[in-house]
Amino acid sequence: MTQTSTIHSTNSSPPSLSSSMAPTNIFIIILLVFFLFVSFITDPAAGDSSVFKPHDSILISCGSDKPTTHSDGRSFLSDEESLKYFSSDGRDILVSLPSAENVPSPIYLSARIFIEEAIYTFRLADSGWHWIRLHFFPLSNPQFNLQNAKFSVSTDSLVLLHEFTIGNNTGCFFKEYLVNMKTERLSIKFKPVTGAPAFINALEVVSAPDILINDNSTTLSDHKPFTGLPTQSFQTVYRLNVGGPELSSKNDSLSRTWMSDSRFLKHKELAKSVTVNPFVIKYPPGNSRFIAPQTVYASAVSMVDAGVRDPNFNITWNMDVDPSFQYMLRMHFCDIISEVLDDLYFNVYINGITASSGMDLSSMVEDLTTAYFIDFVVDSDVVSSQLTVEIGAYKLTTSAKNAILNGLEVFKMNNSVGSLDGEFGVNGNTAGSINKAVVAAVGFAMMFGAFIGLGAMVFRWRRRPQDWRKRNSFSSWLLPLHVGDASFLSSKNSLGSRKGQFYSSTMGLGRRFSFAELSEATKNWDSNEVIGIGGFGNVYLGLIDDDKRVAVKRGNPQSEQGINEFQTEIQMLSKLRHRHLVSLIGYCDENSEMILVYEFMSNGPLRDHLYGKNLPPLSWKQRLEISIGAARGLHYLHTGTSQGIIHRDVKTTNILLDDNFVAKMADFGLSKAASTTEQTHVSTAVKGSFGYLDPEYYRKQQLTEKSDVYSFGVVLFEVLCARPAINPSLPREQVNLAEWAMQWKRKGLLEKIVDPHLAGSIDAESMKKFAEAAEKCLAEYGVDRPSMGDVLWNLEYALQLQEASMQSRADDANGSSASLPPPAPAPSTPELRPIPPPSGNPGEVQVIGEHSGTAMFAQFAALNGR
Ligand SMILES: *[C@@H]1O[C@H](CO)[C@@H](O)[C@H](O)[C@H]1NC(C)=O
Ligand SMILES: *[C@@H]1O[C@H](CO)[C@@H](O)[C@H](O)[C@H]1NC(C)=O
Repeated sequence: MTQTSTIHSTNSSPPSLSSSMAPTNIFIIILLVFFLFVSFITDPAAGDSSVFKPHDSILISCGSDKPTTHSDGRSFLSDEESLKYFSSDGRDILVSLPSAENVPSPIYLSARIFIEEAIYTFRLADSGWHWIRLHFFPLSNPQFNLQNAKFSVSTDSLVLLHEFTIGNNTGCFFKEYLVNMKTERLSIKFKPVTGAPAFINALEVVSAPDILINDNSTTLSDHKPFTGLPTQSFQTVYRLNVGGPELSSKNDSLSRTWMSDSRFLKHKELAKSVTVNPFVIKYPPGNSRFIAPQTVYASAVSMVDAGVRDPNFNITWNMDVDPSFQYMLRMHFCDIISEVLDDLYFNVYINGITASSGMDLSSMVEDLTTAYFIDFVVDSDVVSSQLTVEIGAYKLTTSAKNAILNGLEVFKMNNSVGSLDGEFGVNGNTAGSINKAVVAAVGFAMMFGAFIGLGAMVFRWRRRPQDWRKRNSFSSWLLPLHVGDASFLSSKNSLGSRKGQFYSSTMGLGRRFSFAELSEATKNWDSNEVIGIGGFGNVYLGLIDDDKRVAVKRGNPQSEQGINEFQTEIQMLSKLRHRHLVSLIGYCDENSEMILVYEFMSNGPLRDHLYGKNLPPLSWKQRLEISIGAARGLHYLHTGTSQGIIHRDVKTTNILLDDNFVAKMADFGLSKAASTTEQTHVSTAVKGSFGYLDPEYYRKQQLTEKSDVYSFGVVLFEVLCARPAINPSLPREQVNLAEWAMQWKRKGLLEKIVDPHLAGSIDAESMKKFAEAAEKCLAEYGVDRPSMGDVLWNLEYALQLQEASMQSRADDANGSSASLPPPAPAPSTPELRPIPPPSGNPGEVQVIGEHSGTAMFAQFAALNGR
C-alpha cells in the first residue's frame, strides 16, 4: 500500500514527452492511438461516451493514515485529507487493521469511531443527483466493540439510517443512496445513540448522471403514471444481475455492484440462465448505457424447457423489504433468446399484480439484443413485507412460450417526512405508519391480484426513439422490404451468390418475384383464384415454392389512386413487422407491374366468420382473442413506430385470420404516418369505409389515431352483434350499427341484440367489459376515446372474465365447487407451482394441488360473485 496515490502524483511534474523519444515509444503511442480509434469506431454508442466523469467524486477512507485504493481502482482520501470536511463535538477515534480475512477491499481496514455527534460537510461542484455510499465493517479494536454500535445518519433533510445496529453482521457491507441535491452543500451527520458508538469505514459522495432517474414510472396499484420521481430520494435495496454472476463496482461505469439473483429465486429448477457475449448488446437512442452495463443485459433467466413444451408456470423471485416504505422497481430486459423479432411475449407480475401483460420487447426497441428498462412504483396500497417478482409466458400467443428477465433493481423511496429508515424525519416529526390495515389485507388481495389487478397492463413506449427507424428511410418505394416469413430467411446464404431472387438491405430481406413466376403461381391470373377485390385491383391465391400459399395483390397500373395506395402500403409494411400485421413476403415490379405478395391468411376476413357466409359461428372466447389480436396490431401501429401510423380503414374485412385464427391487420393502402398528417390534414380527403368513419374526422377532416379507435369500436359491436356496420335494408333506426348498439347500451339492454349464437355461453361480466370498451371507442370526441392500449387492456380483462366463468362452470359440472371451502382470510402467498390455466373444455379440467387448487377455485368463485 505504499504506492503513490493520484493526489500525490499531481504535485510532482507530469512525465514530459521528451523530444528524444525512443522509437519503441513512438510505436507504442501509434499502437495506442490505433486501438483507441478502433474501439471508438466499433463502439455502437460512441457518441454517448461510456465513461461518466462525475463533477463530484469525494471518496474518503475514514480512519486511514494514508490514501487507499479501493478494489475497483478508485482512490480514497486518507482521514487526514478529509479533515477539511469534518467537524465533531467530541473526541474522534481512528482505528485501523493491517489486514483482515475476507475483506474485499482495503477501504474496510480502517474506521472512524464517534461517541458524539459528528458531521461531514461537503461543498459540491454541482447540485443534482448524487450517490452517497456508506461502507461498514465492524473491525475489532481494543477500545470499542463495534458490534454494539447504534447510531443514526442523516443529511440536512433526509434520514438515511435511524438507530441503526450492526446486529449479527460481522462482514463488510455498504448502504447506497441516490439523492437529488437541491443545494451545493451536503452534510452527513452521524449521531450515536447515547452510550453506544457510531462508526464509518469509508464514505462516497459521487455525482450520478441525470438520465438515471426520469419521471416515467407507473404505480402498481392503479397503473397511473407516478409523478415526482426526480424529487424522491432512494436507497438501493437490491440490484440483481439476473441470470449472471455478481458484478463488482469495477465492472460498472457508475461503480454500482450487481448481485447474482440466484438466492432470491423461489424455484431454481424452473429457471434457466442464458448468456450472450456482452458486446452484442445495443442501446437504443435515449437509453443510456449508464442505466446498466452490457454485462447485465447479456445474461438473463428464462423458462426451463421452453423449447420442449409449453411452460405453464412462473419464475418467481422473493425479496424481503420493509413494508412501511414504497419502492421503485426497475426491471431490465433484453431479448437475447429469440432468433427473430416478435417471437417473445410474456407477463410480468409484481406482488401478484400484473405489471405488464404480453410484454413485447420487439415493439419497444425494435431489435433483438437491445436494452430496455421499465420502472414501477410499488405504492403503499400494494407493498408487503416481501416483494415478489414473477415472469411467465403469455398464453395468447402461438409464438415461442417463454419469458425473460435480465436485471432488477429495487429502490426504497423516502417517506413523507423525508426518511429512508424508520418513521421519523430529521426534525423528529413522524410519518405515522402507512396503512397498516392495507398491509394486512395485501396477502389476501394478492390471491385475487391476477384478476382484480388486471388494471395492470402497462403499455408504454417510453422515450420512443425518435429517429430510430427514420434514418432507414428510403426514396424508392419498392425498397427495401421485410420478409414476414422466417423460411425465407433461411435462404439468406444464397445472397452472396446473387441467384437473383434475394437481396439484402439494412432493413431486412425482400424477395423479388419475376412476373412469370407470379403468373404461374396464380394460374395465369385465373379469376377462380381471386380471393379479394379492392379499389387497387385483385388479390389472388398463389402457390410458390411448390406448396406455399401466398396472397398476391396485383395493382392496376392505370389507376393513379392505385399507385398511391400501393406506394403507401409498401412503405408502411416495409417499416413494420408485427405478429398482428400481415407480413409482406415480396413484390414484383417487372413491366411496371405493382404486385405485392403477402403471407396467406387461410381463414380469410373476420367478417366472413361473423355473418353472411354461413361459416360455423366463432365462440365468444375466439371473438375475444381475435379482437385482442387486432387491437394489438393497431396498438403497435399507433405507438410502436417512431412516427405513429394511422390505419384509416379499420373494419372487419381488413382483419384477417390465419390457420390458427390469429388475427392480423391488413390493407394499409390508406395508412398515413401520424406525424405527416398534422401539416396536411386540410387537404386530406375523407377516406375510409362508410359505417366505420369517425364523425369527428368527417367534421374536421383531421386525422388522429383516435379515428382508428372509433372504427375499432364499430368492429367490436360487429363482433358482439354479428351484423354489418351499415345495413340499409333494416328500419331506419337500425341501419347504422354504431348508433343502434349505443342506444341499446344506454338502455342497459345490450344483451337483446347480442349474436344469438352466443346466448348461454357468454359471461355477463365479460360482455359488459367488452361493451364498455366498445362504447368508449365510439365517444363523439377523439379526446374522450381511449388509446388502443387501454382498449386492449379492457379486452384482455373481458377474456379473463370469460375464462374464469368457463372454469367455474366446468367446476360446477364436476361438482367440485359444492364443497368449496371459503377463501382463507389472509393466506400466505399462494404456492406458485405450475397450475394449468382455466381450460375451455370441461372434460379437461385437471385436479390440481390441494392448496393451490383451493386458491384458484376461490378466485373464480369470487369473480362469479361479483
Ligand atoms: C403467475 O403469477 C400470477 C400472479 O401471481 C398468477 O396470477 C398466475 O396465475 C401465475 N401463472 C402461472 C402459470 O402459474
Ligand atoms: C420524499 O421527499 C420529498 C421531498 O424531499 C417529497 O416531496 C416526497 O413526497 C417524499 N416522498 C414521499 C413518498 O412522501
